[in-house]
Amino acid sequence: MKAWTPVPQVVGIIGLGKLGSALGLKLRDRGFRVLGSVKSPKSRERLTKMGFEVHLDNNVVVSKSDVVILSVKPYNVEEISVKTEKPLISFVAGVPLSKLSAFSNRPFRAMTNVALTTIAVTGPYDEQIDGLLKAISPRVIWVDEKLIDPLTVVLGSGPALVAKLLDSFVRASVDIGVPWDIAKEVADELFRYVPLLMRQRSPEELVEMIATPGGTTIKALVEMAEIERVMASAFEGAMARLVPKR
Ligand SMILES: NC(=O)c1ccc[n+]([C@@H]2O[C@H](COP(=O)([O-])OP(=O)(O)OC[C@H]3O[C@@H](n4cnc5c(N)ncnc54)[C@H](OP(=O)(O)O)[C@@H]3O)[C@@H](O)[C@H]2O)c1
Repeated sequence: MKAWTPVPQVVGIIGLGKLGSALGLKLRDRGFRVLGSVKSPKSRERLTKMGFEVHLDNNVVVSKSDVVILSVKPYNVEEISVKTEKPLISFVAGVPLSKLSAFSNRPFRAMTNVALTTIAVTGPYDEQIDGLLKAISPRVIWVDEKLIDPLTVVLGSGPALVAKLLDSFVRASVDIGVPWDIAKEVADELFRYVPLLMRQRSPEELVEMIATPGGTTIKALVEMAEIERVMASAFEGAMARLVPKR
């Protein structure tokens, strides 16, 4: 029988920025010891005040950790000169496993967002890494590496894209005379409730339930027909910007 392996207790985060510190705070809440690195003394000072052990030398972070998380901007990856046998999980957009193997002989490539809703990860399945990531988000999906790029757009940029949809819904409501506060409350409830409804019914069934022939819903839906093309073109544009980074 395979021996039970505990998840790593000390996590080192190279790049304690917006995503790195969100990951660090969640791991700390879950009882992990978290330390990390940044580039500037100013960021180090700010993060130290938040209770993190922060270094300006990435190799110190690697030496003191059981597992390393990489969360620098893609253009900072060239500056990273660590080399370890410890597992390294990179959340850096657009940087493939083949490149990460320069930093660790156990590289994993992952994607999430600042809300830490879901984590997609690629690499050979590893129970310890799965356990560590599940401490951050219960929704961890192991995927083929080719899915990480599209998921970077859908999942990584997801909160900004959904915020844009929600905001458009509110503004269109205000445009036809609904007060701001009511428009926001209605939109907020709908964006929470409709995904639950869609677990029981397909979008087509839902539309047929609501849209009376010749009625107002179908008129609004026909006017919104372009949204699918606009969204597809937005996602394709984001992918085109992501992939040449390689
Ligand atoms: N933000 C998101 O919503 C999101 C979502 C999914 C994936 N990601 C990915 O996560 C990565 C980080 O994004 P972010 O938005 O968190 O960026 P960020 O806020 O700019 O954080 C980057 C951090 O890396 C540090 N850094 C830069 N060069 C370094 C080096 N050579 N050694 C050690 N630390 C270094 C920076 O230090 P200083 O503070 O001193 O400059 C900063 O704290 C990106 O690759 C991005 O693609 C981000």
